[in-house]
Amino acid sequence: MCGIVAYVGYRQAFPLLMNGLHRLEYRGYDSAGIALIDNDLNLYKCHGKVADLEAFVADKNTKGTIGIAHTRWATHGEPNDINAHPHFSRTKKLALIHNGIIENYVSIKQELINRGYKFISNTDTEVLVHLIEDIQINEKVELVEALRIALNQVVGTYAIVIISNDDPDTLIGARKGSPLVIGVGKNEMFIASDATPIVEYTKKVVYLGDEEIAIIKRNGDLKILTIENIEKTPYIQKLEIQLSALEKGGFPHFMLKEIFEQPRSIKDSMRGRLSLSKEIVALGGIIDYEDKFLKAKRIIIIACGTSWHAGLVGEYLFEDIARIPVEVEYASEFRYRNPVIYEDDIVIAISQSGETADTLAAIGLAKSKGATIIGICNVVGSSIPRATHAGSYTHAGPEIGVASTKAFTAQVAVLTLMALTVAKKKGTISRSRLFEIITELELIPEKVEITLKLNDQIKELAHKFKDARNFLYLGRGYNFPVALEGALKLKEISYIHAEGYPAAEMKHGPIALIDKNMPVVVIATNKGTYEKVISNIQEVKARKGIVIAVVTEGDTTVKALADHIIEIPETEEMMVPLLATIPLQLLAYHIAVIRGCNVDQPRNLAKSVTVE
Ligand code: AGP
Repeated sequence: MCGIVAYVGYRQAFPLLMNGLHRLEYRGYDSAGIALIDNDLNLYKCHGKVADLEAFVADKNTKGTIGIAHTRWATHGEPNDINAHPHFSRTKKLALIHNGIIENYVSIKQELINRGYKFISNTDTEVLVHLIEDIQINEKVELVEALRIALNQVVGTYAIVIISNDDPDTLIGARKGSPLVIGVGKNEMFIASDATPIVEYTKKVVYLGDEEIAIIKRNGDLKILTIENIEKTPYIQKLEIQLSALEKGGFPHFMLKEIFEQPRSIKDSMRGRLSLSKEIVALGGIIDYEDKFLKAKRIIIIACGTSWHAGLVGEYLFEDIARIPVEVEYASEFRYRNPVIYEDDIVIAISQSGETADTLAAIGLAKSKGATIIGICNVVGSSIPRATHAGSYTHAGPEIGVASTKAFTAQVAVLTLMALTVAKKKGTISRSRLFEIITELELIPEKVEITLKLNDQIKELAHKFKDARNFLYLGRGYNFPVALEGALKLKEISYIHAEGYPAAEMKHGPIALIDKNMPVVVIATNKGTYEKVISNIQEVKARKGIVIAVVTEGDTTVKALADHIIEIPETEEMMVPLLATIPLQLLAYHIAVIRGCNVDQPRNLAKSVTVE
């Protein structure tokens, strides 16, 4: 996600745009830029936060009553000065800012290169602004028409604003899959990723719809066209929401917002990498290393915390589908254990922040022993991706809540694609089975949406267990890492002690803890070991334990045994972690809120543990 804000009106644009960028920094903060028209089209941008941009332009001409500004969350191209937005067209008459992912930018870029265009950045955005100008010049059409034609050629998501030095009274915005809202003021107009930069100037807003283009004039004229060139009547609404809630998209906490973002973040983690029609799985980031996976005798997964739990799911995936032995290591243990590492080992390092010190150090150790390091990370250009040989970004967008939620499910989604990619290459999966799995993967975002409807039921359940002093989470197979993740979520934000355990292991000790005061969460969706999990539930019930069971919808057997039932949609066993984790995230969240805990910044925790 990136932050977009633009203005045209009677005020000096600069202070308003910079204030707007600060409001939007929660959407992304690895580089920032601004373009203003004051006779000339002046464009300034740099790596770093909005404050770094402010320092960078302190001695520049920042006058002008029309401008666009952008704070970046990199998806294509490292966070640096060149890849920051806005991007100039070749003639430098146009400047464009963009939030989203243009999936077919490589082919468009190649076509433009063949026609003599040169690119200075690695971004998909620069390709778009060159394409627009190429059409404008060659088709001899107005900017709006050139934009409309260009948007009919791109595949992917976009929220863009473009300005032209030839028309200093007009902002042009367009969106598909990424939000844009227009602020309607008195002799001034705004457009932004959300209403946070707008709300102090006007409460009158128009939410742009998908595949719509907005032509916004300084005098307040607003015209909306679809990309099929059909005019739409702007629907002006009155904003009721408070500024503080706006940054959280109307949610009370970033964590809840990010839990509810998972249909989109899982979709984005697979965007352009999965195609049912072509039965392909294509992880561009590891394409040059697929042969290394073929030769590997084992995979070592290193990570910490929630990322380690995702790694555990990865172990089941790679062994189950690609038939490669996997070891999952806590990075902190691995780095000091003097581990045996072979040159044909593949080491997969998983990290949301890309800055976890233990994981970074473990990578260094493995690299020094000649292993191939593959990264799975959420923050583009952070230290861990830069330390690996190759890898795939999770594209989950900024995760602000300290407790990781959408990053976990995005990591599991990318691990699934990676295991499928290797399995296809190794021939350990049949074409029909691959087709079955891809078909189900494409349905997961919708099934996550259905699972999120459990929110009210889980909130009610949370009231019953807010005073519990201990929780036990049990799962088998793919659900064992889910049990660990559910326990971690609860303990790190509600401060209730919780332990995740393999369900069968319970009788080797933890069963001594079971009594009427011990809530036991059991993920009981298994197919292969369903009867075994039933026995585990009976063992808990026999000792008066309270069972909260996560089951496949329609399950009546567990329903007859457990005290509370949480039903999730039916899915492939290997994809249950993508669904079963969600009610556990919600349970932890609601218990923590009821207990008055600081959900987004739990005590003693940091979002990125950059120290040992
Ligand atoms: C997860 O909820 C925790 N905040 C923590 O365990 C986190 O997963 C761990 O510190 C690893 O962070 P990383 O994914 O950024 O490397």
